[in-house]
Amino acid sequence: MDASLIDLLDRGLAGAGPVVVLTGAGISAESGIPTFRGEDGYWTVGSAHYHPEDMATNAAFGRMPEEVWRWYLYRRSVCRAAEPNPAHRALVALEEALGDRFLLITQNVDGLHLRAGSSAARTYQIHGNIDFLRCGDEPSSLRPIPLAIGDAWTKDAPFTEEARALLSCCDGGRLARPHVLWFDEYYDEALFHWQSSLRAAGEASLLIVIGTSGSTNLPMQVGSIVARRGAPMIVINQDPSPFSRFAEESGAGWFARGRAGDHLPAMVEHLLERA
Ligand code: OAD
Repeated sequence: MDASLIDLLDRGLAGAGPVVVLTGAGISAESGIPTFRGEDGYWTVGSAHYHPEDMATNAAFGRMPEEVWRWYLYRRSVCRAAEPNPAHRALVALEEALGDRFLLITQNVDGLHLRAGSSAARTYQIHGNIDFLRCGDEPSSLRPIPLAIGDAWTKDAPFTEEARALLSCCDGGRLARPHVLWFDEYYDEALFHWQSSLRAAGEASLLIVIGTSGSTNLPMQVGSIVARRGAPMIVINQDPSPFSRFAEESGAGWFARGRAGDHLPAMVEHLLERA
């Protein structure tokens, strides 16, 4: 590894604050899950009949809940067929070494960080988890989607009466909703760790950003807070992004262009040696 990168990692580790890792769809791309904005991305390809960004709204769910559920059950099946990759596992090892000094903020709803072994307590799933449902915005109604729903939903599989029964709220048959943040909704603390994420950005000694295009609000705020504070920031991404610009302009940043699996394990190995 380059000496400047090693210096940044060491400075980050020597600080008093947490080591914060922010991930996006790129970290799961090597597990075979499409990103959102890439060539085969969910927002690029969409469902058979609807423009994808229109499906991921509360308004669409109000108009056509079964169609929206079909799309999420299909995406959930893709996620459940995927396995965590070396980059997910490297973050588990880092958490084990750092304990409460470690925090993972993920935009991914695929659940792969938790399946790899990251702890739920130190993982903020700021866009939800595709394996969960809830009744409206009530946090206490959050629960896993029943396993009986199965995980072999294809894009064209019809929504069945059995699925409707399994995905209903207990108050008389109203359909629960997928536990994801939609485009016409806002981050909050109870479901999406809004304030806690901003607080972590204000305290972080080191921020590592992996596989995200910087298209959403809270991650961009996290990046800009850390950049303004001049704390070390390392960005691993296949393409340049607003985060790589933060890193390049902050004077305490490093942009590792390429795949998460090619860069992250070596960085984590170095941190483990020094921790
Ligand atoms: P995007 O699809 O917008 O961006 C993925 C980023 O990962 C791109 O910058 C790619 O260059 C990069 N990338 C792809 N493969 C990679 C690899 N193997 N290693 C490293 N980088 C790689 O996905 P996100 O930024 O995660 O929100 O999208 C953010 C949010 O927008 C999503 O959580 C979703 C979407 O709307 C909601 O659904 C609320």
